[in-house]
Amino acid sequence: MPNLDSVLSDDKIWGYADVFRPERFLDGSGQLVKREEFIPFSIGRRVCLGESLAKMELFLFMTILIQRFEFKPVDPDNLPTLKGVFGVTHAPSKYEARAVPR
Ligand code: HEM
Repeated sequence: MPNLDSVLSDDKIWGYADVFRPERFLDGSGQLVKREEFIPFSIGRRVCLGESLAKMELFLFMTILIQRFEFKPVDPDNLPTLKGVFGVTHAPSKYEARAVPR
């Protein structure tokens, strides 16, 4: 069982991996950079068979949600923890957010 999290949370690769900084995937002219270390679907023989379907679904869901709502924290001075809950998966801890229609 590979530990994908050890790569996906490595500060040496991402520079403060826990910080929300999507521009780490863009080059100087705003083009998407493919980082070989970005392996949420694993690699090699056990790579996720649903990767392309999952990416299409994520794109459709996320774009519709972001087009229709602005997502805000309930309390901006007290953001949800990034500490996950370990189980079969490493899931986010429970948190509340506000979805404000645009
Ligand atoms: C964001 C969504 C998803 C993520 C992050 C994800 C991630 C992964 C990862 C990391 C593995 C490798 C597990 C291991 O090491 O054994 C895997 C395997 C697999 N995934 Fe996904 N997956 C996603 C969605 C899907 C979807 C939508 C499907 C099918 C419709 C799917 C089907 C599979 C299958 C069949 C395997 C087993 C591949 C094998 O071992 O031969 N996944 N997935």
